[in-house]
Amino acid sequence: QDAEVLAENNDFQELLQSLPFQRGTINLPLHLYKGFWYFDHSLEAVMAFHRHFQAQDSDIILVTAPKSGTTWLKSLVYAVVHRSQYTATDQNHPLLTTNPHGVVPFLELIYRNNKFPDFTSSPPRILATHVPYFMLPESIKTSKCQIIYLCRNPKDIFVSMWHFGNNVLPKRYPSWQPISIEESFERFCKGIEMFGPCWEQALEYWKLRIEKPEVLFLKFEDLKADINVQLKRIAEHLGCPFSPEEENRGVIEDIAHLCSFQHLSNIEVNKTGEGSIPQLENSVFFRKGEVGDWVNILTPSMAEKLDQVVEQKLHNSGLTL
Ligand code: A3P
Repeated sequence: QDAEVLAENNDFQELLQSLPFQRGTINLPLHLYKGFWYFDHSLEAVMAFHRHFQAQDSDIILVTAPKSGTTWLKSLVYAVVHRSQYTATDQNHPLLTTNPHGVVPFLELIYRNNKFPDFTSSPPRILATHVPYFMLPESIKTSKCQIIYLCRNPKDIFVSMWHFGNNVLPKRYPSWQPISIEESFERFCKGIEMFGPCWEQALEYWKLRIEKPEVLFLKFEDLKADINVQLKRIAEHLGCPFSPEEENRGVIEDIAHLCSFQHLSNIEVNKTGEGSIPQLENSVFFRKGEVGDWVNILTPSMAEKLDQVVEQKLHNSGLTL
């Protein structure tokens, strides 16, 4: 394995030198690989994940663009899958003491410093990633494991990312240079965004859901509009539908409450804890959790511009974002 790791490291450094490179939406350096933008360390991890991950049929893979509601999706799927072990009202529920990123890890982080990680957790494993489908390992594509994709309106993704960058980066990288919102927005419209363009990623999974029943396609806005309906879709997709008895007992409502923005963001571990994602405070994953907050920060012409970029891409696909 050592020789393999060494050879891969060398190959990766060579590849990295050859890739287009630019600063993205939050002014961090990104590399363009096969149409998507990555941090250097993320791309290296993604490639290791792509090469070495061995899927199991029972795996559940959550896929999102950054800032599209990943934290929420992780909590919902975890609570649905583990509901016979922990009811949503259980005082010992892991989501009361652990941030959702602690119970559902990112594959990009698992593979960051270890190309051959030890997956010891018992099935079903719930794992998350931000990568496009074509970058998922073959073993996922050929297995029966379930994929849940969550998208969000790109204007809200941009605004969420803008606040995230300004909140997190000055503390994390003291030499980080802020940029104007106009410049940041221009880059976002060009898709120069970590794991972006988010609309390309959404379109890929949208098309896939037709030929691959393993893919469930969700929207942040639909979760906000009727969480109970979407929780039923998630449970059915994962082969563990809510029984009539569970429905009568209010199990769906209890899970919705447990994972709601209001509840999760006020739990101590999510207010003051840190490290579920290295070097980040858990609170940075909770801001407003609303639909349409973009109106408070984008001008009408900015909104129109991004809408046009997205519409052009999604044209005739049946997908609206
Ligand atoms: P806002 O910045 O618009 O508030 P991610 O988890 O992919 O990083 O996305 C973060 C976004 O999801 C943030 O959006 C955050 O507030 C929102 N969010 C986090 N937990 C949520 C929840 N339980 N319900 C609704 N939105 C949530």
